[in-house]
Amino acid sequence: MRLKQPPWLLLSDVGPVPGLDDPVQLSATADGFPSPSAVADASRSPTPTPAEASATSRETPKSKPKSKDPAAHLIYMRYLQRNQPPRTSIEKFGSGYQDYLQAPLQPLTDNLESVTYEVFEKDPVKYDWYERAIAQALSDWSKQSKPTSSSSGAVVIAVAGSGRGPLVTRALRASNTTGVPVEVWAVEKNPNAYVLLQRHNDMDWDGVVNVVKSDMRAWKGPLVNPTTTIGQAVTSTATSPASPYGKVDILVSELLGSFADNELSPECLDGVQHVLAPQFGISIPSSYTAHLTPILAPRLHADISHRAVTDTTATETPYVVMLHAIDYLATTVPDHPRIQQVWEFVHPLPESTLAIAEARRGGGVSGGGGGSMAGGDGANEHNTRHSRMKFVCRNRGVVNGLAGYFEAVLYDGGVEGKVELSTRPDTIDEKSKDMISWFPIFFPLKNPLYYPDDSELEVSIWRQTDDRKVWYEWMVEAFAMVGPAKRMRLGMSEVGSSRKVGCLM
Ligand SMILES: C[S@@+](CC[C@H](N)C(=O)[O-])C[C@H]1O[C@@H](n2cnc3c(N)ncnc32)[C@H](O)[C@@H]1O
Repeated sequence: MRLKQPPWLLLSDVGPVPGLDDPVQLSATADGFPSPSAVADASRSPTPTPAEASATSRETPKSKPKSKDPAAHLIYMRYLQRNQPPRTSIEKFGSGYQDYLQAPLQPLTDNLESVTYEVFEKDPVKYDWYERAIAQALSDWSKQSKPTSSSSGAVVIAVAGSGRGPLVTRALRASNTTGVPVEVWAVEKNPNAYVLLQRHNDMDWDGVVNVVKSDMRAWKGPLVNPTTTIGQAVTSTATSPASPYGKVDILVSELLGSFADNELSPECLDGVQHVLAPQFGISIPSSYTAHLTPILAPRLHADISHRAVTDTTATETPYVVMLHAIDYLATTVPDHPRIQQVWEFVHPLPESTLAIAEARRGGGVSGGGGGSMAGGDGANEHNTRHSRMKFVCRNRGVVNGLAGYFEAVLYDGGVEGKVELSTRPDTIDEKSKDMISWFPIFFPLKNPLYYPDDSELEVSIWRQTDDRKVWYEWMVEAFAMVGPAKRMRLGMSEVGSSRKVGCLM
């Protein structure tokens, strides 16, 4: 049997049988390892197809002496073990976390611990890509001679949700490498991270960074009055004609979860967009998309069913998990790839969208009124989403849930190309090889959904909000093809809903 993941082979009761050919003719050297000729032999076809195997056995002269080596199986297994493809960065990093279910972080409502930031900061790719994106944005700003929001001519950069400051360091570095002067603001609501930002500013950034402790949604923007204390969060709503607050040219953030928007990046960035320079301001990332595929995951299903005995939300929670003992169920066919985009968020939003949201807040009718279907005034209605996707499955199978991934465009440099992140197994190598910051997300089905050969799976998923919370609802339907263009619905899953464990805004 050939498995997708190591161990590759499961052998049972298969000691060498006297008088029969060994499955693979190997000879061992004195140290117990295969001889070079045996290795070459084995490497020729480590996984022959049944046709190749039978052709090989037909070619084998009957007169060839039969191997009696009792260690042949062991030697071959060692050979396979040594010649496995190298583990990917995320497999090395996540070793021990395979199929370990974790509730997603909620960095908006919870304050992350320093060690969590330390883990983020180990990513060898994410910060380099952000630095590339910021450098490209600065070069373009300068090439296009766009006006800046500072009186000195420096491009104003704000890192919204700075954590311990790795993106601030990268913004300063991007300015050094491009020679484009910047004024940098670091905005963070976590008081512990704020202290570390201040220390970084003193020790590493020569005090050039303006550190602000504030929820970004309450931040009024960079203070332009030099007599006012830098780092002061101002939450008053009063605006005077001569506002002491300036604008930001480049708003850098990293608020993405395993399903892109599940840590409420859209809601946070909506709340801080008012500080962005209206005409030229840009957001890094400029957009992100969520992606799904149905999977077989019996181990996760068993674990979740076990948890459900004591936890009523166990089957309704989207988990962050390094998927391991799983199989993808869908085949890629034209128009219906194995992994499909679910929805997209783009920043900054058109001003008109935010104006409608603001008008709806508090029940105003000028924004369309009526409130939202899920409750609330409808002020966050523009961040709801719904998607229905069709997946084609040639072979019968069992769906245990949906595997979710994301892609993000940090900066679209036009002809220079896009700087992108991806966690999708089929595009990560092309877009952000070796990035380790995110494991996939898993939306479980309470009960497995069985389907026969030649089926279609239709996946529906909603992003819901009641203006206080955001959650997801999801379901899968199975259809059998009963004619070239005719199908019959065979079954559907229950609707999963993470409302009870939703993300607080
Ligand atoms: C995923 S961490 C990224 C931290 C850092 N930028 C990095 O890449 O290592 C997100 C950070 O945003 C902060 N954050 C989330 N929502 C925020 C909000 N509404 N206002 C200010 N900070 C926020 C969190 O406290 C956390 O430090």
